[in-house]
Amino acid sequence: MDPQFSHGLFRLAALNFMLLGICSCAPLSEIFTVEDWARKNVVEDDATGSVRISLTPDGGGKIESRSAYLGGSFSVRAKLISGESAGTVSAFYLISQGENHDEIDMEFLGNISGQPYLLHTNIFANGVGNREQQVYLPFDPTADFHTYSVICNHQQITWLVDGAPIRIYRNIENIYPSSYPFTKGMHVAASIYEASTWATRGGLVPINWNYAPFEGSFDSFNFEACEVPQGGDTSSCEGNYGNWWDGAQYQSLSPDQVNQLRSFQQRYMIYNYCTDQTRYATPPVECAYNAA
Ligand SMILES: *[C@@H]1O[C@H](CO)[C@@H](O)[C@H](O)[C@H]1NC(C)=O
Repeated sequence: MDPQFSHGLFRLAALNFMLLGICSCAPLSEIFTVEDWARKNVVEDDATGSVRISLTPDGGGKIESRSAYLGGSFSVRAKLISGESAGTVSAFYLISQGENHDEIDMEFLGNISGQPYLLHTNIFANGVGNREQQVYLPFDPTADFHTYSVICNHQQITWLVDGAPIRIYRNIENIYPSSYPFTKGMHVAASIYEASTWATRGGLVPINWNYAPFEGSFDSFNFEACEVPQGGDTSSCEGNYGNWWDGAQYQSLSPDQVNQLRSFQQRYMIYNYCTDQTRYATPPVECAYNAA
């Protein structure tokens, strides 16, 4: 990996450790910004590298990376709001700034106590989204930390849960222009917010503020990615530089990975825009390329 183009927090962390011998983590405030409105609901702990975000009737919270990236591996561990969480969304996502934005989402939709969360994924390319999938998780995401990741390169985006692929989205720009989000640097964000109108059972169950504050935790942020220089020129990140996230296994799935993805989706997927015939009489073009 070319250090000029890459920015691994773990590498930074190791460097810090060697130089200072105090902390094995880059201070969170060096990596993330917290806007004024969110500050009261965000608690960063540099000793453990964890961030606790809460949601109260006064609002939620969000952290966002100072740097923008194009291509790389973005992962976090999260332990979601436990107990009553209907009407809440906990999100880990990549987003570009400005018009016609690109975005890659992992959003965890809360539920009434004892009922399962849903992991909602979506992707926006050039301002156009509407590419939702929803899956149940094979574990209780409120009991322990689990690892959620997005790996993207010039060929494919892969969403992973505890290292196993749960969704792919392929670059078919040659036949469907502006459908692949690989032209703008994206910031990495984590947030918790209210979404009573759509999150739980499609909005049937709104948030119950009697249970506030709602609290979730994120830790072990690890971005090994191509950092876009200030000013936003992405040319140094658009190719294949032989970084591990450009590897063959992330450019297209192997037969084993296809089987893994297929069996996960068969067991856990409950919504796929590609098969929603009331929305799309014929499936969107990209669907044929992204089916497991
Ligand atoms: C909440 O629980 C209900 C009932 O089990 C289920 O239908 C729904 O998919 C669950 N998740 C969300 C986010 O609505």
